[in-house]
Amino acid sequence: MRNIIMEDRKYILNVYKRNKLKIVKGKGSYLYDEKGDKYLDMYSGIAVNNLGLSNPDLLSRITEQASKYIHLSNYFVSEPTVNLAKVLVESSFASKVFFTNSGTESNEAAIKLARKFGKSYHEDKVEILTAYNSFHGRTNGSLALTGQEKYQKDFRPLLPKINHFKFNSIEELTEKVNKNTCGVFLEIIQGEGGIREVSGEFIETLVKLSKEYNFLIIIDEIQTGLGRTGDLFAYEKFELRPHIVTLAKSLGGGMPLGAMLVREDIEDILKPGDHGSTFGGNPVACAAGEYVMETVLKKDFINEVRNKSDYIFKRLKELKGKYSDIIKELRGRGLMIGIDVGDYAEDIKSKALDKKLLLNVTSGSVIRLLPALTIETKEIKEFFTKFTEILSEIEKNI
Ligand SMILES: Cc1ncc(COP(=O)(O)O)c(C=O)c1O
Repeated sequence: MRNIIMEDRKYILNVYKRNKLKIVKGKGSYLYDEKGDKYLDMYSGIAVNNLGLSNPDLLSRITEQASKYIHLSNYFVSEPTVNLAKVLVESSFASKVFFTNSGTESNEAAIKLARKFGKSYHEDKVEILTAYNSFHGRTNGSLALTGQEKYQKDFRPLLPKINHFKFNSIEELTEKVNKNTCGVFLEIIQGEGGIREVSGEFIETLVKLSKEYNFLIIIDEIQTGLGRTGDLFAYEKFELRPHIVTLAKSLGGGMPLGAMLVREDIEDILKPGDHGSTFGGNPVACAAGEYVMETVLKKDFINEVRNKSDYIFKRLKELKGKYSDIIKELRGRGLMIGIDVGDYAEDIKSKALDKKLLLNVTSGSVIRLLPALTIETKEIKEFFTKFTEILSEIEKNI
């Protein structure tokens, strides 16, 4: 019999830590393996499958568009691409959209826009700041943004003139911003960095400095965007009108799709020929994106996310009270939740897998919950039953 796990190792460059399961299908919040066992997925393809898997309406949008044409070059306009851009503009601060195929590409586009913006003032206005512990992608430009030594160390020299400040440090931001700064990139809640949220005071200072030194505020909503945090965009909680927001992950409902949303006052910086992408704005991906946006913008959708979040946080707080030796801190918003369990993280993840519960660990010590936004109450309860059993097993051995 064919051993796909062995073949994966043999033929695919070994850069991913694979799970041992052989998944053959997915439905809603569950993944099914070859034996027919079902696993509750509490991180939805790392915040991509926000509407669950095998959604029949999403599938029919994809097949309908694929049966017309899968790809046109960007010499042509394409209806689903225009439709998706329209809905993104109408539901955000932005006046224009540039489509990409991934998160890292959305940030690459934003780096180019920010630098051209800076150079329109003076040649040296090309410096970019991002936070330590941030994650903005792995291609050379966005890797330079990603403020984590472990990702950068073997790949230097990286893009020059990119510096970092301590996340939420008003002092460091103020110290590092200067007349040569053209842009500051920021995640409202650091995802890979362990579900850590920016403070209101930090945002206030950022906005003030942006006006004083005339630089762009670029909010990376690749993980936080489109309902994940209980708002359409996580930045909405603050007094902030970003210049640019970058998106990807859930935007295409699982199809590779990203976007850079751009504010009106800077929409003319990039000119024809300055940037582009063969696949960017792919019609099938955008048809899927239209469905994602229609769903997320439905009247009660985001309210439901908030209700589920309230319920989950209430129960997690109870567990934190009961298992205070294991759960150190709860962080996050909406359905982007970090449970800091210190050294127990990997043990919890492995025990969860035995119970057919799929958990993700980030930052070494944080169980990162990113369930489908469509997760049902009975599935949330299933998570709590299994998670409580695991905590109780661990506690017995402390
Ligand atoms: C906040 C953030 N930015 C950028 C990226 C990079 O996205 P991609 O893997 O699609 O390039 C990620 C991916 O995890 C992310 O979480």
